[in-house]
Amino acid sequence: MSNTALFQDKVVGDRMNRVDGRLKVTGAAQYSAEYQLPGLVHGALVGSTIAKGRITGIDTKAAERAPGVLAVITHLNSPKVPGFAAKSNPDEPPAIGQPLRVFYDERIYFNDQPIALVVADTLERARYAARLVKATYAPEEHRTNFEANKERGVLPTQAKRNPKSPQNDKDRGQKDGYQTAPVKLEAEYRHPSEMHNPMELQSIIAHWEAPDRLTVYDKVQAVKGTQRAFAKDWNLPEDNVKVVATFVGGAFGNGLHNWPHETAAIIGAKVTGKPVKLVLTREQMFTMVGYRPYTWQRIGIGATRDGKLVGITHESVGQTSSYEEFTESTLQQTRMMYACPNVSTRYRILGLDISTPIWMRGPGEATGAFALESALDELAHLLNMDPIELRLRNYADTDPDNGKPWSTKYLKELYQMGAERIGWSRRQLKPGSLREGDWLIGYGMGVGTFGANRGAAKVRAVLRQDGTVLLQSATTDIGPGTGTAMVQIAADALDMPTDQIRFELGNSTFPNAPSQGGSATVNTVGSAVLAACIDLKKKLQQLGGASFANVQPEQLTLTNGQLGLKANGGPRTAFADLCKANNGQDIEVTTEAKPGNERQQYSMYSFSIHFAEVRVHALTGEVRVTRLVSGADAGTIVNLKTAGSQMIGGAIGGIGMALHEGAVMDDRFGRYVTKDLADYHVPVHADAPPVEVFFVGKPDTIVDPLGTKGIGEIAIIGVAPAITNAIFNATGKRIRELPVTPDKVL
Ligand code: MOS
Repeated sequence: MSNTALFQDKVVGDRMNRVDGRLKVTGAAQYSAEYQLPGLVHGALVGSTIAKGRITGIDTKAAERAPGVLAVITHLNSPKVPGFAAKSNPDEPPAIGQPLRVFYDERIYFNDQPIALVVADTLERARYAARLVKATYAPEEHRTNFEANKERGVLPTQAKRNPKSPQNDKDRGQKDGYQTAPVKLEAEYRHPSEMHNPMELQSIIAHWEAPDRLTVYDKVQAVKGTQRAFAKDWNLPEDNVKVVATFVGGAFGNGLHNWPHETAAIIGAKVTGKPVKLVLTREQMFTMVGYRPYTWQRIGIGATRDGKLVGITHESVGQTSSYEEFTESTLQQTRMMYACPNVSTRYRILGLDISTPIWMRGPGEATGAFALESALDELAHLLNMDPIELRLRNYADTDPDNGKPWSTKYLKELYQMGAERIGWSRRQLKPGSLREGDWLIGYGMGVGTFGANRGAAKVRAVLRQDGTVLLQSATTDIGPGTGTAMVQIAADALDMPTDQIRFELGNSTFPNAPSQGGSATVNTVGSAVLAACIDLKKKLQQLGGASFANVQPEQLTLTNGQLGLKANGGPRTAFADLCKANNGQDIEVTTEAKPGNERQQYSMYSFSIHFAEVRVHALTGEVRVTRLVSGADAGTIVNLKTAGSQMIGGAIGGIGMALHEGAVMDDRFGRYVTKDLADYHVPVHADAPPVEVFFVGKPDTIVDPLGTKGIGEIAIIGVAPAITNAIFNATGKRIRELPVTPDKVL
């Protein structure tokens, strides 16, 4: 594991411990629900018990009389959120693309939709009183079964409106050209809904500091995005809304959207005039925040007998709610991964009477890769060819989707490095060939890719009179260790020890940065840290006067409390003197960094490879993943330790996708039966084998000046098919419906 050239002898590339690790393991880190505000009260949500229809009556009297209750809020008495679009027709669902309007009217769009908020002086009293709220309904027939309604899938509105939308049907070469191939197969793949279950429950404290000033401590991935959303909802200037998310206890996409409970808490705070804390229960995590949507896919794939792809057709229908169109890039990997003359992709969504899905790690791509990478494996088997060999014969040297050169692509290196590490040579072409006692042993692999995205971000850099540097940006850290990476980047840029640098995030009062999503934070905010540090050095240079006038910022060092030249023996000026020259003030710059037009010239992606070794019990169908090897071509790796952990987390998420996770709906009631971690299985320690992680470590300075490409998503994309392909190799049984439970294996 190493980074080449660019960052030799630098802090970037180190296995530095997390700057906030001690705070986290000692409990000193404050999460959204942990702020102690004077007068804080507690909210509990009541959910609907039907999936579709109207509330005909809601009896709140008993709840209102219960001890400690301050308010019971329903659509009958809730202040209306000014930003909720008025409806022209009372029967119309909310406008497409608009989150559920909380306590807006009597309409029910999904089971467990929030219909009332009870606010009380303690959590226990709020939850007790919530159970006393009784609603009556006029139910309507609901549709929650995906398979029964699959044919109703439609082109998303955004695609209908915009011919250039990536969600439109797309053909490269001949439509459905795979059909002409001498060797071909068609198969359907199914992916269940997977529910977001990070350790930290979704939680918010909403506090109206004045009638027109709102502060929320909120578990989100976007503090600025949330600020904008609530400012719009409440018709306030953006600066009147403050969003704090200093620590986030895991979020894999569910914090990229604002959910009904957040608005409910804000309404509760408005009604009671007190700060309201609202923490979802684990059960509510299955209905009140998003999830990876149930997706049906069909692939037709064909090749010549020597393994040259002739065509791939990939169709997908993904589930969404009846009131909001959620879409994702399920077909993107099929469009760009393999050199193939004829590629057809068709994406549809299916609105059901359920809550709106949301991105979950490797959104779309991870689901799509399950189908695509399974189909490649199936084709390799038909051709009696090694699956890596099949991929190498169809290696795309330029992006076949748009003809552009890759900024960088080291996928061949990944194949080779991964194959060596897993011991691919042990794999037998003929399935079911390796056996130890009752255990069948198999090997499989899968590839992943995700756009190396970069946006604009601002960073404030301050040299303070105490000799430390403070950096601030309104990004968040949902777990990967953003602050640590930013300190490392700044340490190199400033030539300053890491313990003299602090990076603050998760606050909407900091300079603008995008959400932490789409694997883009280091590319985006890291580049802004670099730019701000260079600007800070330039400012120090000016304040330092003649002795620093004619040097490049790179030649300057900020060590031992002094500005100096890296070359020995040069002039040095104490930080205190620089501050004196700055009217006795801290020395501050705010710098924005953003991408140029490189995206017009290059196609930019991170790539990953995953190899699995599985053991399948011949009698019980139990599958054990005994080894996983995951590698990434993700450019410069800023921190080999945290990046390695991120890859391990993604790989284990992939085990969940392959073997464990899947929401089960009781369609009679339109209600999930898997509503806790006893029924909804995620991999536990005993399910997680040692994961061996490796990186190519070659910088991509087209994506950004640091050379990073992003690893958050590719860590999971391609893992599930690696495991299911290994199960096929072990048993000869092809399972195209996740999760692979023992009943499907036998
Ligand atoms: Mo990620 S699904 O962009 O949090």
